[in-house]
Amino acid sequence: MAPSHRPPSPALASVLLALLLSGAAGAAEIVGGREAQPHSRPYMASLQMRRDLGSHFCGGTLVHPSFVLTAAHCLQDIPPRLVNVVLGAHNVRAREPSQQHFSVAQVFQNSYDAENKLNDVLLIQLNRPANLSASVATVQLPQQDQPVPHGTQCLAMGWGRVGTLDPPAQVLQELNVTVVTFLCRPHNVCTFVPRRSAGICFGDSGGPLICDGVIQGVDSFVIRECATRQFPDFFARVALYVDWIRSILRRVGAEGRP
Ligand SMILES: *[C@@H]1O[C@H](CO)[C@@H](O)[C@H](O)[C@H]1NC(C)=O
Ligand SMILES: *[C@@H]1O[C@H](CO)[C@@H](O)[C@H](O)[C@H]1NC(C)=O
Repeated sequence: MAPSHRPPSPALASVLLALLLSGAAGAAEIVGGREAQPHSRPYMASLQMRRDLGSHFCGGTLVHPSFVLTAAHCLQDIPPRLVNVVLGAHNVRAREPSQQHFSVAQVFQNSYDAENKLNDVLLIQLNRPANLSASVATVQLPQQDQPVPHGTQCLAMGWGRVGTLDPPAQVLQELNVTVVTFLCRPHNVCTFVPRRSAGICFGDSGGPLICDGVIQGVDSFVIRECATRQFPDFFARVALYVDWIRSILRRVGAEGRP
């Protein structure tokens, strides 16, 4: 999220504040993760400000050649026409030959409740279909209402970065996480990393939680600050929105737009 924009929720505001106060280098990226093998997560999208190459502010996931799933709070304060969607990236600060850049044709929300952070999902239709390749591919969606049991091993990932603070996470980071149910809610999937300080952080919002090769979550929020070792990380539960996603793909297809 660019620093000039109002942070979208109290929880995220407190994350930003914690980072401002600490100024800790590295605190803005996925905490405690590792660099992903380049282009091994070809569904991963970076949302950037149009006029500022590399100004990553949120993640997203390619669910169809023309559609990226992200978090609703990512675009709450940013007009879609100012947003650039980048696919095929490993280093978001560089112009890599694998990258494909798009503008936003339209966005679709599903009863997003900002105050309670419910239904924090947004579907972005790209201005044209992506060319699928070794570095750009769609992710597999779960079954509608498919459960994600406690203890499931998953992968969180992102370029999480905060405005101009800190050395940016230039290359995609990933982190093994475990699904937990403590403090969680039915609209969320929650994850935790036991025994060390690790988790999603500001700027990872909108990115995917991948479990057994399927997207089960969209990064939504953390409590108090990143990697507390105390609270789980919260993701929107994608399995609740699969019928909705498919209905939009059908609707847009029916209207003759790719
Ligand atoms: C896809 O490939 C075609 C042909 O090479 C090219 O004209 C088009 O711009 C590409 N689209 C994107 C999104 O890069
Ligand atoms: C992370 O998870 C993958 C499977 O998704 C596993 O192969 C790997 O060993 C795990 N890495 C660590 C450090 O636990």
